[in-house]
Amino acid sequence: MILIKLGGSVITNKQKPLTPNISAINKIAIQLKKVREPIIIVHGGGSFGHYWSVRYDMHTKPAKYSKKGVAVVKNSMIELNKIILDSFLKNKLNPYCLPPTDFMFGDKAITKKVKEISRIAKDGLVPVSYGDVLWHGQNKFYILSGDRIMGILAKVLKPRLAIFVLNVDGVYSDMKTKKLLHEIKGQKTAISKVGMDVTGGMARKIKEATMISKGGVKVFLVNGNKPERIVNAIKGKKFEGTVFRG
Ligand code: IPE
Repeated sequence: MILIKLGGSVITNKQKPLTPNISAINKIAIQLKKVREPIIIVHGGGSFGHYWSVRYDMHTKPAKYSKKGVAVVKNSMIELNKIILDSFLKNKLNPYCLPPTDFMFGDKAITKKVKEISRIAKDGLVPVSYGDVLWHGQNKFYILSGDRIMGILAKVLKPRLAIFVLNVDGVYSDMKTKKLLHEIKGQKTAISKVGMDVTGGMARKIKEATMISKGGVKVFLVNGNKPERIVNAIKGKKFEGTVFRG
């Protein structure tokens, strides 16, 4: 089984609020159709959920955020999720919509429900979850990122591979030369190399990828604008990207 996160920067135009990148979504769906293994998809918020969570000053830390903000962020993620589901359906991927409230209780994963997800995938549907804003209890809410969902699912399901689909080729050793790091081993290397060279978003991804790989799952970071690389990574062919070994 393969766990795949579609980054918001690939499936939306991050420069323009509420703009999906339909062509990128369709191209990814066409490639995913070639995969002969059960897959589980998680997608990010990009110019939908991220845009509104910035506007309403909402974060991953549980707090008493604007109620209107909670409603608007949730709504925008449903909208983006629907666009992905429509593309998958059109490309014969048989998506199974899975809001994170389906397997989360406050900020804890419901193991039984998480295990159900892999059974749905093995039965031939493609579960599609996404980063969202969730109720935390005591009048507090928090943003659960798609990256965090990847960590949660990987821990319980132990997929053969976890793939983060980005709008860059992988992790660069530095942003000037854009020299790609083909392999990252161990947390220390990853964090120190990344510290000042990449954006906060990338640092967060690397943290999650490192954690997943430490749990014994191989993690790939690949460029979603070259979606054939996703399939090459899955099929064990040579591809451009960064691997985190368990
Ligand atoms: C964001 O999920 C979810 C919301 C802001 C509601 P991610 O943090 O995984 O999204 P991207 O991939 O970075 O856009």
